[in-house]
Amino acid sequence: TYVVTENCIRCKYTDCVEVCPVDCFYVGETMLVINPAECIDCGVCEPECPADAIKADTEPGLEGWIALNAKYAALWPNISEKTEPDPEAAAFDGRLGKLAEAFG
Ligand code: SF4
Ligand code: F3S
Repeated sequence: TYVVTENCIRCKYTDCVEVCPVDCFYVGETMLVINPAECIDCGVCEPECPADAIKADTEPGLEGWIALNAKYAALWPNISEKTEPDPEAAAFDGRLGKLAEAFG
């Protein structure tokens, strides 16, 4: 399974949703998440994210993001078509502390 991590917050480039063969992305106000029950681990979304926000869940230190993706995939609507990025995407790309700001 792949997971969306912090740098998606307030960037939301949505290039990822265009390539997912099983449409398993879900969208919230500030970021997207992947439904772990639907992701087939194909990996094609990972290099598509301009913000480098998509990671394999086998990478160390992602426990919080694994839980967050699972939690919000059950609550947020599906997204399968690219939308405009967040208007401030460029300013927020790479910024630290976005999780605390968005969900704190
Ligand atoms: Fe979709 Fe494949 Fe990315 Fe999983 S790894 S979210 S199936 S594109
Ligand atoms: Fe987020 Fe990257 Fe997709 S910024 S919306 S995970 S392309």
